[in-house]
Amino acid sequence: MSIVSDISTRTSAAIALDDRYTAHNYAPLPVVAASAEGAWITDVDGRRYLDCLAAYSAVNFGHRNPVITAAAHAQLDAVTLVSRAFHSDRLGPFCRALAAMCGKDMVLPMNSGAEAVESAIKVARKWGSDVKGVPAGQANIIVARNNFHGRTTTIISFSDDQTARGGFGPFTPGFRAVPFGDAAALAAAIDGNTVAVLLEPIQGEAGIIVPPADFLPRVRALCTEHNVLMIADEIQSGLARTGRTFACDHWDVVPDIYLLGKALGGGVVPLSAVIANRDILGVLHPGEHGSTFGGNPLAAAIGSTVVEILNTGEYQSRSTELGEHLHHRLAGVPGVTAVRGKGLWAGVDIDAQVGTGKQVSLRLAERGVLVKDTHGQTLRFAPPLVITKDEIDWAMERFAEAMTIG
Ligand SMILES: Cc1ncc(COP(=O)(O)O)c(C=O)c1O
Repeated sequence: MSIVSDISTRTSAAIALDDRYTAHNYAPLPVVAASAEGAWITDVDGRRYLDCLAAYSAVNFGHRNPVITAAAHAQLDAVTLVSRAFHSDRLGPFCRALAAMCGKDMVLPMNSGAEAVESAIKVARKWGSDVKGVPAGQANIIVARNNFHGRTTTIISFSDDQTARGGFGPFTPGFRAVPFGDAAALAAAIDGNTVAVLLEPIQGEAGIIVPPADFLPRVRALCTEHNVLMIADEIQSGLARTGRTFACDHWDVVPDIYLLGKALGGGVVPLSAVIANRDILGVLHPGEHGSTFGGNPLAAAIGSTVVEILNTGEYQSRSTELGEHLHHRLAGVPGVTAVRGKGLWAGVDIDAQVGTGKQVSLRLAERGVLVKDTHGQTLRFAPPLVITKDEIDWAMERFAEAMTIG
């Protein structure tokens, strides 16, 4: 049954309900998930799809990873939420483990990725004011063009995606954008009031853009030289996606602040974090920042389990080995004009004659493979890291088919 030409009553009823009652801020493919396991999603009609998006890396360890769901079940039977008005016996162990994994002193737990970014902006400005001595209201933060850090008002203020910005002004001042990968432009943008450089080490939404080899080391050196905080947004690139715990590891670069989200919540709960040393996160005092759900016991229990999983290195190795295979297979598909990325993370440009990214992703969905298009002619492959070599091969056969009909 083709999902596009022969949509079932159940599928169309579910889509109609969404359409009627859910704000139209997304344009999803016509697939209605009912259950999922490992790398597979099953829809309301029992049709199975190989998930090659993994909720934008939030499901790195597979749908309903049994170790993670066991931790969640156990915590559901203990305590789920107390707010930060009280302590919980889960938060300290989680923050200690996460800080150790990052090689830092402290953790500021939040929920969504955008919240982590917002929090880091506040921390950097406060650090600029309290530690660096930047005059009140004068701090600037350098960002990259074509960045994606979320959709809140401050974050879209330094986006150059007109769809994300149009009609949403006035915008938050204090940001300077330079081309991603251009260390000289970044150096020229730094002045005495620069408090931070905020970057995705590999740009995700922009199409999995890997910077030149010397870029991140040069950014690191510039930040050190000018007493500027280097903030790595690893919300999509981190936690084994690229074959390393952090994408920054590929260049042996250690930022001052890591931002994590998505996979940190094990695909179960929203959990994000700002991780840094005490001389940075220590600028926050009671009342200056917070979140009712940030660091709740359920999320903390799940986050601790995610850190334990990452400490084994198993998923990092899987991503490296299978990523090479994925990249090799993608490059061999006729109509593919470029493949970028690292590990099980690939941005694939396709020839316009084959169709748009959206058209090819629809054809792929008809064949049981779920991917996401971005910027017209690019597809993103980011399967859960539990995917097998055979499943990759199966997906690549479906991809080759989807690329041959025009
Ligand atoms: C690099 C990066 N930062 C931040 C975010 C925002 O995360 P969230 O959607 O959880 O707010 C995203 C989401 O795709 C992202 O890719």
